[in-house]
Amino acid sequence: MAKILGILGSPHPYGGSGSLLRCALYAAEELGLTTEIIELYRGRIEPCIGCVQDEEPTCKYPCIFEDYGREILAKLKEAAGYVLATPVYWYGPSGPLKILIDRMTALENMVAFGEASYVEGKVVGVITVGADAGATLAGAYLLTVLNAMGAMIPPWAHAYSHRGKEALYDDRATMDAINVGRLVGGLILRLQGREGPLTYREDPELLQRIRQKVLEEKTRQEAHNGRDRTQVRGKSGS
Ligand SMILES: Cc1cc2nc3c(=O)[nH]c(=O)nc-3n(C[C@H](O)[C@H](O)[C@H](O)COP(=O)(O)O)c2cc1C
Repeated sequence: MAKILGILGSPHPYGGSGSLLRCALYAAEELGLTTEIIELYRGRIEPCIGCVQDEEPTCKYPCIFEDYGREILAKLKEAAGYVLATPVYWYGPSGPLKILIDRMTALENMVAFGEASYVEGKVVGVITVGADAGATLAGAYLLTVLNAMGAMIPPWAHAYSHRGKEALYDDRATMDAINVGRLVGGLILRLQGREGPLTYREDPELLQRIRQKVLEEKTRQEAHNGRDRTQVRGKSGS
């Protein structure tokens, strides 16, 4: 079954962007797609050093760095689609997401070696969450860049909120995020010659059900993290 990667550019797994990302992925799973979340703050991603500017094209897949970024690039190459979710940091995506985008040049620049871009035909949607201004600009930036690398954009592919870490309680943004997941999944299914949605669904029952799933997941995760902390304290004897 086709996979959608959720790329989280926030240091907060269940902050505003993390919560809306989980809504999108639950909605895609309801169509039968598989999903995986990559949290960019969980590993070191070296910044791009610009090999592509050399006279001889040297920037190609796999990228020279053997780091968390390389693992993510391998997953991006294999996935059918991506949902990128990020906090708005000064009218743009967070630093780690920008660094990943730069590193994705290794996928895109395969065109310099007579191949198609490895991003070509991937289906993408984006989620941006801020507390003030810049969420639409950050989302527009991400969609433009991914499309410039060869990705496809379904209808209603951008969800955004100005409610910061409370974004999961922003009904409009949560419904939009659910639709981002549905429509990225729907276009992937259509490309495979199968049935899939390509229209926005306004559905308060679906919104409440998926929001509840995310809240329950967050509670389970916090309980799990709490147990881990207790065990660590137990080991150190404090
Ligand atoms: C370095 C930094 C820059 C920020 N810049 C903006 C901004 O330009 N516009 C905005 O709306 N919010 C901005 N914020 C607020 C965050 O987008 C907001 O706290 C958001 O909830 C974080 O998302 P998260 O909960 O998914 O981590 C900024 C926060 C930080 C730490």
